Amino acid sequence: MAEKRIILTGDRPTGRLHIGHYVGSLRNRVAIQNAGGFERMFVFIADAQALTDNFDNPEKVRQNIIEVALDYLSVGLDPSKVTLFIQSQIPELTELAFYYMNLVTVARLQRNPTVKTEIAMRGFGADGEEAAFGSGLPVGFFTYPISQAADITAFKATEVPVGEDQKPMIEQTVEIVRAFNRIYGETLVEPKVVLPSNAACLRLPGTDGKAKMSKSLGNCIYLSDTAEQMHKSVMSMYTDPLHINVSDPGHVEGNTVFTYLDAFCRPEHFGRYWPDYADLDELKAHYTRGGLGDVKVKKFLEKILNEELDPIRARRKEFEKDIPAVYEMLKKGSEAAREAAAATLDDVKRSMKINYFEDKALMEEQARRFSE
Ligand code: TRP
Repeated sequence: MAEKRIILTGDRPTGRLHIGHYVGSLRNRVAIQNAGGFERMFVFIADAQALTDNFDNPEKVRQNIIEVALDYLSVGLDPSKVTLFIQSQIPELTELAFYYMNLVTVARLQRNPTVKTEIAMRGFGADGEEAAFGSGLPVGFFTYPISQAADITAFKATEVPVGEDQKPMIEQTVEIVRAFNRIYGETLVEPKVVLPSNAACLRLPGTDGKAKMSKSLGNCIYLSDTAEQMHKSVMSMYTDPLHINVSDPGHVEGNTVFTYLDAFCRPEHFGRYWPDYADLDELKAHYTRGGLGDVKVKKFLEKILNEELDPIRARRKEFEKDIPAVYEMLKKGSEAAREAAAATLDDVKRSMKINYFEDKALMEEQARRFSE
């Protein structure tokens, strides 16, 4: 029998979602949703995880819940097909995480490359990598991969579509599942990570060519940006510093405009917007030869981005008209998600033999022991 497919993923509500999130995961999720053939699909707002490094700024997290919910709805996630919920509203997740903590060593957490980078970026502790894991590091942040394992396993997820940086979290989850099942008996389900197939989508750089889109660098194109805001971002995009005159040969590697084209451009776009070329390879060849200006390529990219983002912007406008309905949808989703998580927590407690009040055999055994 084919395995029941359960799909789960989420995002931290620390800001609006941008086109890096879109090509890295959101677009994929909508495709999975529309293809169907799964048992259930969950997409959630990871506010509890966001608080592990924003515990002193709950207002930021609170404000961004609705932004992320609107981003979800506007890219086309459909609450009639997908359960959308808020992590903190599912207390079962915290309980699971507490039991999983017994199965993970400090050394294992210290090896998590994503956590390492995040710690370095946020500058917890003193200087240097060793010190980063020192006494200044909040335990909640250090252990968030365990909480993420709870998020995934609570819903018995089989597939987790995420960006590349989340791969270590899924690996950690698989280890926890194996340890749990080995010690307490077959209970939890091993998830698989689902990554985008295209390299440009795995890690879309910022508009300034820096490795990552980040709010603090101001190099993002948000899904909720207007066409005018996006126009400015595209026109000021980093290209090839050696391509000074139109006639100069250009480089496409490390050229943000071409990386974005790799992520967004499809052959039919040429027919629609630039019939001089058959496909992206031809365009790249011309640019590399020389004689093709950046502005022309940027205008082409802008048309492609607008084609993709216009329907998203339009849907957002509609959902913005009824914010209470968005909260109501999240509340319903959270209730449904809680039911699913509670069922798994019951399984876990049974396996761990901490289901005292439903364990008739235990009660009888203890009664006998004290009557002898
Ligand atoms: N770590 C993810 C992020 O930073 C959010 C997240 C929390 C998540 N729990 C998850 C993603 C479980 C997938 C599955 O965006």
